[in-house]
Amino acid sequence: MPNVQSAILNSSHPETSKKTQSLCASDFVRAKREGRKLSMVTCYDFAFASVLANSAIDGILIGDSAVMVMHGHPSTLSANMELMRLHTEAVARGAGGKFLVADLPFLSFRKGLAAALDSAATLMAAGAHAVKLEGVDGHEDVIQRLAESGVPVMGHLGMQPQSVHAYGGFRVQGRTSLAAKEIMRQAQALEQLGAFAMVLGCVPAAMAQEVTQSLRIPTIGIGAGSSCDGQILVLQDLLGLTESSPRFARRFWNGADEVRNALAQFNDAVKDGTFPSNDESYL
Ligand code: KIV
Repeated sequence: MPNVQSAILNSSHPETSKKTQSLCASDFVRAKREGRKLSMVTCYDFAFASVLANSAIDGILIGDSAVMVMHGHPSTLSANMELMRLHTEAVARGAGGKFLVADLPFLSFRKGLAAALDSAATLMAAGAHAVKLEGVDGHEDVIQRLAESGVPVMGHLGMQPQSVHAYGGFRVQGRTSLAAKEIMRQAQALEQLGAFAMVLGCVPAAMAQEVTQSLRIPTIGIGAGSSCDGQILVLQDLLGLTESSPRFARRFWNGADEVRNALAQFNDAVKDGTFPSNDESYL
């Protein structure tokens, strides 16, 4: 077992975790061991990161979904290192020490070991505390070398958005017993290679439960049922700021309606001359 993961799996409450309010990779593994669920959301910008800094959320993912949510692209394939670096830096400036995981974008970890390590180094230097990468086959060396080098690695199995064209769309994965076995094999491999956690995306709930029960490291589900060790949602879906969201993404707020309501009030106040008031003016 790689050194970093073995230290994580065998550790008991280190002093460091008592000194800071934020979690780290080893806390994720400990949370699973102690039966505590983990909450994560995506974030791409300083403003929302500053709000999340004072929330109970356990971790933030600077996801490559940034190119879809913030830049309007139809898939995550347009994300690149420069864009991920900028979003990671912006979030890190606002997040007040929250545990930050940054996505390694499309193909950035498939161009050889040295290039993959450079990509990870860029995101860590930008303020990430861990990196996430999709899949496992063909880049086992990258996962293992990062973990052995002290870079916490989060895996991502099930529906991997960077493989959207291989699937022919954003489709639920692992429905056949063969496909389910494949995901189970990959999950075991990720744990062996030293990952500290993994996202399980869009797989049947029963399958996610089996994978979760077979691992010592936590699974963070998105569209993977309630048995995962934690859950992650895209922040804008959760807040109801997107016009539509997938069926697994509960909208905990009607953000778009609330924002439009505030904008209507501003518009009315400008047009009827009640904004700005004397208190809002320099007299
Ligand atoms: O980029 C992203 O938003 C993700 C989530 C789907 C977990 O990887």
